[in-house]
Amino acid sequence: MADSEAYQCLFSICRDRHSTRKISPRPVTPALIDKIIELASLSPYASNKKNWQILMVNDKATIRKMADMVKQSGQTMAESIRSDFQENFSLYLQNFIHFQTSPVLLIPTFRVVHPIANMMGKDESSFSQWERDNSVKSISCVCMLILLAAQSLGLSSCYMTGPLIAEQEIGDLIQIKPGQRMAAVIPIGYGA
Ligand SMILES: Cc1cc2nc3c(=O)[nH]c(=O)nc-3n(C[C@H](O)[C@H](O)[C@H](O)COP(=O)(O)O)c2cc1C
Repeated sequence: MADSEAYQCLFSICRDRHSTRKISPRPVTPALIDKIIELASLSPYASNKKNWQILMVNDKATIRKMADMVKQSGQTMAESIRSDFQENFSLYLQNFIHFQTSPVLLIPTFRVVHPIANMMGKDESSFSQWERDNSVKSISCVCMLILLAAQSLGLSSCYMTGPLIAEQEIGDLIQIKPGQRMAAVIPIGYGA
């Protein structure tokens, strides 16, 4: 049976998507970002609990400050890295800050909720973990759809959790509500 047109189209979007680590500062129109968010918002989520949202950061100074925070955290981490790994670690850290050239960052955030564990009188810890995992799995689906939506619109992206070594500092800077976690920093733009 021949592949349907829809499958071929989806296949080519998945095949052509790559993590782009050099994004040009060229602006992206808000309408394209809205389309990405609209598509990613169709993502499935566990237990019918939509405890997530997608934040957008497009202020250059804020993006620069975020990169500085990640660099600072990386320097603190480097103090605990064995001397024979220092050079490798410092190269690896470059993979945590390349979002700094991007005109737009999408930051999916989520809240861990425990509706079932909260109903249990005792021995709730393994269910708490299961619920936590479900929250992380749900937001990972959102991240994936962001990447595919960007690709379908001719935009580049990269799923980045490296910047979360400075999650607390970045969260304070962009005023993430208490109890919300950042799942990733996803730079969006045109390949440089
Ligand atoms: C959970 C997750 C976290 C990632 N974090 C980073 C990151 O911090 N920096 C980075 O450059 N790439 C990051 N990546 C991208 C991977 O390195 C990349 O997907 C992998 O090398 C495969 O390459 P491809 O995406 O081009 O197919 C991450 C990917 C995933 C799924």
